[in-house]
Amino acid sequence: MGFFSWISLLFNLCMLLSTKPTSSNAFLSKEAFAKIPSKFFDLAKRPEVFEYMVNIRRVIHENPELGFEEFGTSKLIRNELDKLGIPYKYPIAVTGVVGYIGSGKSPFVAIRADMDALAMQEAVEWEHKSKIPGKMHACGHDAHVAMLIGAAKILQEHQSDLEVITLQAFVQRCNATVIFNTNEKPFYPVTVNNVDLHGHFLKVARNMLGGKNIIEMQPIMGAEDFSFFAEAIPGYFYYIGMINETQGQLEPGHSPYFKVNEDILPYGAALHASLAVTYLLEYHSQLTTQKGSSHDEL
Ligand SMILES: *[C@@H]1O[C@H](CO)[C@@H](O)[C@H](O)[C@H]1NC(C)=O
Ligand SMILES: *[C@@H]1O[C@H](CO)[C@@H](O)[C@H](O)[C@H]1NC(C)=O
Repeated sequence: MGFFSWISLLFNLCMLLSTKPTSSNAFLSKEAFAKIPSKFFDLAKRPEVFEYMVNIRRVIHENPELGFEEFGTSKLIRNELDKLGIPYKYPIAVTGVVGYIGSGKSPFVAIRADMDALAMQEAVEWEHKSKIPGKMHACGHDAHVAMLIGAAKILQEHQSDLEVITLQAFVQRCNATVIFNTNEKPFYPVTVNNVDLHGHFLKVARNMLGGKNIIEMQPIMGAEDFSFFAEAIPGYFYYIGMINETQGQLEPGHSPYFKVNEDILPYGAALHASLAVTYLLEYHSQLTTQKGSSHDEL
């Protein structure tokens, strides 16, 4: 969806969570681990969370803005973070926002969504068609933002619902510096997934959706500015399939006929939230037992 994104920046949400410092056995048992992805998936599918994401996605879809001009989109995101009680840093590279949930201790997990639209006229006739002539969310970034805010909502509002471990929230610096050149089209590095994070993704995604629903992709030639983040910290980039045969043919990204299947929003929100939480719970004690090898700051 977001992969031919030639325009830099973006909306970042830094999800920062950690186990209670007092918890001595932070390694998750298999049973405890298995509960988290399905619990988050159930939460993300609740009508109030689903409709919340759909509404955000439609408002952004109606009001597309090009890269480095996403002032309204950025404002919408900050309004939602304010309502959720999530502190954030703004601006980052003109319009970017970094929200913070969780602990003051490393490790941290950052989840990123891009938010720029494309300079093309929407050809889909529907109720929430782009209101801006010549601009369209034809790459799904409206849905990327909605899924990320959905994940933030779940993490922020349902921390106490996690049966296995109580999460404790406090603010932390997140200082991975990625420099965006707003004037020139930069030369994009190749987007490479970290091999350990691939293992983590498979574990979480299989748990949530079943192994048969996870497909390993071959490398593709699209450019993706996520690669700049993945150069600064270990990164992982995944796609969410949108095909539903009962709903007809899908148009490719960057087509003026591109449509997002909104049914996928809970999948993305739940995967984001689960990947972050399980990662932090799994790796927290590993890092704290290897004192000196963890980074307070990136
Ligand atoms: C982040 O890192 C940069 C470069 O190392 C430094 O100049 C800046 O003060 C840091 N910001 C915070 C909030 O720690
Ligand atoms: C596919 O679309 C049908 C009809 O809209 C819907 O009932 C079904 O739940 C969808 N399947 C998934 C996996 O979303």
